[in-house]
Amino acid sequence: MEILAVDHPLVAHKLTTLRDVETDSPTFRRLADELVTLLAYEATRDVRVSPATVQTPLQAAEGVQLSKPAPLVVPILRAGLGMLDGMTRLIPTAEVGFLGMVRNEDSLEAQTYATRIPDDLDGRQCYVLDPMLATGGTLVAAIKLLFDRGARDVTAVVLLAAPEGLRFVEQSFGDEHPIRIVTAAIDEKLNEVGYIIPGLGDAGDRLYG
Ligand code: PRP
Repeated sequence: MEILAVDHPLVAHKLTTLRDVETDSPTFRRLADELVTLLAYEATRDVRVSPATVQTPLQAAEGVQLSKPAPLVVPILRAGLGMLDGMTRLIPTAEVGFLGMVRNEDSLEAQTYATRIPDDLDGRQCYVLDPMLATGGTLVAAIKLLFDRGARDVTAVVLLAAPEGLRFVEQSFGDEHPIRIVTAAIDEKLNEVGYIIPGLGDAGDRLYG
């Protein structure tokens, strides 16, 4: 598994404001959107492209185009929805699938309440969006579902990750298929009720109330 904590002053600046308890919902939404676009730039570094030739006003030029099938972007509802526009701004031709998952606040286990994903993901590059990687239970369940449908190349884009959750994802999958996690930061730890510390609170609540 590859973990990339993006080291960039603009990422750090936007994340700092996201963390701030004084940041209101409209500002939080806008900053999450901007931050995702910066993370998506790194997350799509391995997106598959094929050679393409275009005519400039002067002559032919060799370039690339996104390969088919188009990548699949999967926001995990609810909070992952706040990352969708920022991601599809970079890959407008991506297909979008949806996973509804909620973490049981007592057991901290992820429960899936909605699945709208193509049945056959063979050969598809998948990008999972979820602001928080806390215990990792939600992301592990999401990746398992994508693997069960044939996906073999999954990148998760998160705003914040806890070391415990990163370890859990790593332990849950072998090295057979590439998994990448791109995050704006790796925080200190989880607290006793499964919140990331220092974190930014409950991303779903801060985005949508
Ligand atoms: C939060 C967050 C992740 C999950 C992370 O969602 O957006 O999906 O918890 O926790 P985990 O790594 O311990 O599984 P939540 O269950 O609060 O749902 P919401 O997005 O609908 O608010």
